[in-house]
Amino acid sequence: MVERGSLKIVNVVGGRPNFVKIAPILEAMAGVPVITALLVHTGQHYDHEMSRIFFEDLKIPEPDFFLGVGSGTHAQQTARVMLEFEKVLDQERPDLVVVVGDVNSTLACALVAAKLLVPVAHVEAGLRSFDRTMPEEINRTLTDHLSDYLFTTSEDANENLLREGISADKIHLAGNVMIDTLRKYEPLARARKTAEALGLEPRGFAVLTLHRPSNVDDPKTFALILDSLEEILPRLAIVFPVHPRSRSRISEFGLDARIEGLRNLRLCAPLGYLAFLCLMMESRFVMTDSGGIQEETTALGIPCLTLRENTERPITVHVGTNVIVGTNRDRIVTEALGLLNGAGKQGNMPPLWDGQAAGRIVEVLRHHPPAKGMSR
Ligand code: UD1
Repeated sequence: MVERGSLKIVNVVGGRPNFVKIAPILEAMAGVPVITALLVHTGQHYDHEMSRIFFEDLKIPEPDFFLGVGSGTHAQQTARVMLEFEKVLDQERPDLVVVVGDVNSTLACALVAAKLLVPVAHVEAGLRSFDRTMPEEINRTLTDHLSDYLFTTSEDANENLLREGISADKIHLAGNVMIDTLRKYEPLARARKTAEALGLEPRGFAVLTLHRPSNVDDPKTFALILDSLEEILPRLAIVFPVHPRSRSRISEFGLDARIEGLRNLRLCAPLGYLAFLCLMMESRFVMTDSGGIQEETTALGIPCLTLRENTERPITVHVGTNVIVGTNRDRIVTEALGLLNGAGKQGNMPPLWDGQAAGRIVEVLRHHPPAKGMSR
């Protein structure tokens, strides 16, 4: 066992989904005296409602380093994170870097750490959509191959990693840290009464989120999704918190007037964690292209229609409440109206999505502490 205070860990966050995952990990680390946990925020997301509000809602400590990289092309964003993160590692010389998820910051920091021979832990390893047109698929695959600890959320992720030749002793099925956060904050979220604040009845609306480049950067696909909404809206209101990427595409494609003309469609700014969790809990169903929301709806037992052709989270389909409907107008409408008519999967909870995943991760790190340049 390592000595007290002797395990220095740099944890990395960059974008909105990362904050939800790091919160329980930092909390679990805070309970272990041998661990000194630092937090780096790359600044990939910087708007109040994409970043700050999550720190407030989830009581995440102030970052020790804010890299302020902001937006840009993939190469610009990744390169800026790498340049700034290298300085942090040079200064801090940690024993381990923890990265979560699959955003550009995840890969950029894993790459810097690996080159400096600092061991890397990847939380949410092994997910694969087998679709390399998704930037996240590239980020997660490369991050996995740079990592020394691969913490997975489900057995299928272990199988993906083994198939890619990653050695079994690096892989730890830990469960889902995002569900740790969900279970912890469910009661507080419920008290938010987001539906009431929007003048809606609980169960009297669906929720929509869209931000994947494959959906919102392509005017034809975006328009097809709007066509399907047009068919559903006469039966049910839809609340659509609009991601900044989608907001700018709507203006760019001249879709403002069409969207404003859709009666029963309620647009709003991106919501904070608690308000959005409450909105999902109160909804009839959720339509989304997000990865995390497929998991959160499964954990809540709320039906989810995924507006993508594939998912890197098949357990939400096989065990949970998720149905992959793609972006075909008729399919979306049929599935949504089916849900209104009482169809819809009951769904079960995937193994180890029990609110204790972060504790298991920290236990592994404590009992198998990293060594410099571990596996290289
Ligand atoms: C990123 C992640 C994606 C994740 C999503 C959650 C990558 C490759 N993608 O996508 O996996 O699901 O975050 O939101 O890392 N913008 C703002 N304010 C912000 C952040 C972004 O206005 O706080 C705008 C900028 O114009 C930017 C655009 O949104 O160009 C896209 O942001 P970016 O971080 O590049 O990717 P996301 O689409 O958010």
